[in-house]
Amino acid sequence: MTVRLALIGCGGIARAHLRGYAAIRAAEPELFELVAVCDANLVAAQKVAADASEWQERAPAVFGDVADLLAATDCDAADICAPHFLHHRLGIACLEAGLHVQVEKPIGITVKATRRLIDAATRAGRQLATAENVRREPGPRTAHWLIHERQLLGTMQSFFVQETRPPQRPTADEAELPPWVWRDDCLLGGGGQVLDSGAHFCDTIRYLFGDVEQVYGRVEQWRPRPVRRDDAVVHDDREDTFVAQLHFASGMSGLWSYGAAWPGHRLNTVVYYGSEGALVDPGDIYHGPRLTAMVQLADGTALSLADLHQEHLAELGAAGRARLFPHGLTDGFALEVYDFLTAVRDDRPPEVTGTDGLRAKAIANAIYESNAAGQAVRVAEVIDGRIDAYQRPINERWQI
Ligand SMILES: NC(=O)c1ccc[n+]([C@@H]2O[C@H](COP(=O)([O-])OP(=O)(O)OC[C@H]3O[C@@H](n4cnc5c(N)ncnc54)[C@H](O)[C@@H]3O)[C@@H](O)[C@H]2O)c1
Repeated sequence: MTVRLALIGCGGIARAHLRGYAAIRAAEPELFELVAVCDANLVAAQKVAADASEWQERAPAVFGDVADLLAATDCDAADICAPHFLHHRLGIACLEAGLHVQVEKPIGITVKATRRLIDAATRAGRQLATAENVRREPGPRTAHWLIHERQLLGTMQSFFVQETRPPQRPTADEAELPPWVWRDDCLLGGGGQVLDSGAHFCDTIRYLFGDVEQVYGRVEQWRPRPVRRDDAVVHDDREDTFVAQLHFASGMSGLWSYGAAWPGHRLNTVVYYGSEGALVDPGDIYHGPRLTAMVQLADGTALSLADLHQEHLAELGAAGRARLFPHGLTDGFALEVYDFLTAVRDDRPPEVTGTDGLRAKAIANAIYESNAAGQAVRVAEVIDGRIDAYQRPINERWQI
């Protein structure tokens, strides 16, 4: 079967998906054809269609509206790279038209929106994937192996993950203020860094350490950032600082904090501790652990993640390497879209399902909910909707 694919939303991240599709097309041309592209901004969709026609014979059809795409084409699957407030609307429309669907992270703007997507997939009997590139890269794959198979670090017990940056200076000239985009408005984006890049961190910690049970979070905005909407100067809604304490079902605990408002000193600490040693990542919180990370054991032994990756590859053998890095691909976007395409072809669940996406995003939402409640919250109660004070206005805005 050649999967007939639609790409919906042709902005920033769609370009990374497109590079992944181009690499897969070169390695396994019969796996899929990009049949249609759609963006409310037709120029963006036309540009993606033109790029795709450089690596497949036929240019994809171009649409400005998903309803038109679904009426005019016979696609098997859709890859949705649209703003957060549209994920459930576009996803449900595609699922109800019988397509398998992959949705960019965070899978839904709220927990309730995500549950609607999952229910639509169940009703339609179609696969629902959360697009998650980070865990598929060599660093996180090797970290998972050294923790769970090599058991180099003993029992995982704690982590300390902190990053701060200086504030962005507001421009002196009002005309140069950044335009209001969907990310700056919590009713459109669902939240700031906790939920946005934080979706990657939440997926990574679930992948490495399992489910989080309880969360205590504080979320703050210390330096309102002016942005321009039409002719008015308004403020970016997003938090610039948060501190979260996470408690896992396994007994592990972790401290995750981030601040984009802090002058004078940049902080960057990413350390995961087990009973026998630590994994120390000099990279950023949201795209790691990277191969530049080190393992430091209790007896003073230091091992680089890059060397451990070579050991992991050797131990995997040809079949294991083909499973984790098919066609030698190591780019997380190429691997994520390959998993989605083969899940559709083989009618099996993708590695990161809609439910996985829900469980990861519920950790981020639990941080906002804990802040709203002024107390620790159980992630299960955020998932089942008993705790939703932070998300309620967003659900009301989108009639979810
Ligand atoms: N995996 C990652 O590392 C990563 C990085 C950045 C963004 N993302 C995610 O990708 C998604 C998109 O983010 P982005 O940075 O590409 O945003 P973007 O604003 O650059 O692109 C979104 C696109 O969607 C289009 N769009 C708006 N309404 C539409 C509609 N009704 N139908 C079709 N298209 C419509 C916009 O015109 C725009 O071209 C978000 O979920 C975001 O969190 C993931």
